[in-house]
Amino acid sequence: MTDTPVLRPLGALDLDRAAALHCESFVPFGERGWTRQDMAELLGSPGVVGLLLQIGDTDVGMVICRVLADESEIITLAVRPVHRRRGAGRRLLAVAADHVRAMGARTLFLEVAADNPAARALYESAGFRVSGSRPAYFKRGDRPPADAFVMVLDLD
Ligand SMILES: CC(C)(COP(=O)(O)OP(=O)(O)OC[C@H]1O[C@@H](n2cnc3c(N)ncnc32)[C@H](O)[C@@H]1OP(=O)(O)O)[C@@H](O)C(=O)NCCC(=O)NCCS
Repeated sequence: MTDTPVLRPLGALDLDRAAALHCESFVPFGERGWTRQDMAELLGSPGVVGLLLQIGDTDVGMVICRVLADESEIITLAVRPVHRRRGAGRRLLAVAADHVRAMGARTLFLEVAADNPAARALYESAGFRVSGSRPAYFKRGDRPPADAFVMVLDLD
C-alpha cells in the first residue's frame, strides 16, 4: 500500500467517516459534532462538494465547500490530529479553491474562530484576508462563545 495521500470526492458511502472527522476536530472546541444525517443533508444541498484525503483506507482530512453563482464558501475543513502539520490542510484548501474557481466562483469566504490560531495561520498564509467579524458566533460548550472572523480569498 502506498503512503501517498489521495484525494477523492466525499460520497453517499462516506457519511459516517465524514461525521467522525468533523467530531474529532470540532468537539474538542466545544462545538456540536455533526451527525451522519447532518452530513447527508449538507452533501445533498445545491452547490455543495466534499473532498476526502486518504492514505490507503485511513482518513486524513476533508474539506466541504459550496458554490453559489460567483461566490463560494468553505463550510468545513478538518485534518485528523495525528496527521496535522504535514501539509494536508493547505492541500485541501488549495484543491477546494481550485474547484470553486473552476465552477465560476470569484471569491471564497469562510468563518474562522478567533480562538483557533492554527486555522487562522493557515488561512492567512493561503492569502485570505479578514473582511468582517461575527461576535459570539461559535458555541464553546460551558464556556462563552467565540467570536468569528469572516475571511475572503479573491480568486480572480
Ligand atoms: C486547521 C487545520 C485544518 C490545519 O491542518 P494541517 O494539516 O495541520 O495544516 P498544514 O500542515 O497544511 O499547515 C499549513 C500552515 O497552517 C499553519 N498552521 C497549521 N497548524 C498550525 C498550528 N497548530 N499553529 C500555528 N500555525 C499552524 C502554518 O502556517 C502551516 O504552515 P507550516 O507548517 O509551514 O508552518 C487543522 O489544525 C484542523 O483540522 N484543526 C481542527 C479543525 C479546524 O480548526 N478547522 C478549521 C475551521 S475554520
